[in-house]
Amino acid sequence: MEQVVERPLVCVDAGSEYCPCYLAASGECFVCSLLRGQKFCACSWSGTCSYLHYLWSQGKIKTRREVEVKVMHEELGPHLVRLVLDLPPAWIQELGNPGAFLFLRPENLPPTAAVPVTLFEISEAGAEVVLYVDGPKTRLLALAAATSCLVAKGPYYNGVQGLAALKRARGEEAVLVAGGVGQSATVLVARQLLRGGNRVRACLAPGRAGVNYAAGSLKALGVEVREVKSLRAEGLPLVCTWLQEKPAVVFSAGPDALHREVAALIAKAGAGIELATSQNAVFCCGEGLCGSCVTFTTGGRRVPRCKAQFLREEVTPWLK
Ligand SMILES: Cc1cc2nc3c(=O)[nH]c(=O)nc-3n(C[C@H](O)[C@H](O)[C@H](O)COP(=O)(O)OP(=O)(O)OC[C@H]3O[C@@H](n4cnc5c(N)ncnc54)[C@H](O)[C@@H]3O)c2cc1C
Ligand code: FES
Repeated sequence: MEQVVERPLVCVDAGSEYCPCYLAASGECFVCSLLRGQKFCACSWSGTCSYLHYLWSQGKIKTRREVEVKVMHEELGPHLVRLVLDLPPAWIQELGNPGAFLFLRPENLPPTAAVPVTLFEISEAGAEVVLYVDGPKTRLLALAAATSCLVAKGPYYNGVQGLAALKRARGEEAVLVAGGVGQSATVLVARQLLRGGNRVRACLAPGRAGVNYAAGSLKALGVEVREVKSLRAEGLPLVCTWLQEKPAVVFSAGPDALHREVAALIAKAGAGIELATSQNAVFCCGEGLCGSCVTFTTGGRRVPRCKAQFLREEVTPWLK
């Protein structure tokens, strides 16, 4: 019978300080076939060997740290809060790349109350995040941030799908499209693209956040920013005209519906434009373990979206 050969998935933690993880110990590493108990290496060498990391660590799992952080709290709107976190200096360096996020919780609440939040900006003031107060966890977090310390767990790196496309773009055009609290992911993405010598344009809409809070930071970096009232009515037609200039990469930050519309525009504009997206799955552990973010490849392989980088056509939700 003909066997479908699946492309190995990329793990955002492979070779980092946080490899090996519990998936290696459980024989579920989605990068290393040897750790999954197979006889042959089929990892398509990505510059690091998870198997050797596991042998060298002698079975010790590298876990993330939790720290208590002082926090500065500023209301940006009725449901929107900016938090500036006084994180340890070593963390600041690790959180400067696109896709970086933390789990934050009030110090008196259990880990189940932790909220994944994207690093909006790293500045001299500290690490900035913007919180949209949506339901129980974010409400408790915003209340606690106004009066006491928070507990931060991290750093985590997989808040963006398509990190390789953002790193590959060099001396090209790049487009950012962001709505609502999706704007939080744009600044670190823009920094990455600007480091690669790309010209970056951004189209922002306030969505339910109510303000284009990323506009000032993006303009300060040298990004050409267009602010619109609605992405659907004004933003996507504008992006459509930008796509005629064949940018190397588009970053879509917002709900999955936005990603699908941007993907459809890219498909219409022709081949060669890559798409990177913000992540919208429910993240609870960030370690590939709890199963809250897990999806499956079309071939049935388990994909923890908190750790895996994949091509969107490889996983089932994109087929719907
Ligand atoms: C990588 C990542 C980065 C994020 N960054 C930010 C950010 O910078 N600012 C921000 O305001 N929000 C961010 N979110 C979303 C935020 O984590 C959720 O809105 C929050 O957890 C909702 O919890 P709740 O109890 O307040 O609301 P609920 O009423 O429980 O849920 C409201 C919405 O949030 C979703 N949600 C609930 N729990 C989670 C969870 N653990 N992970 C993801 N989605 C969840 C629900 O599916 C629902 O759509 C991010 C999510 C992810 C996965
Ligand atoms: S968040 Fe727990 S498996 Fe991804």
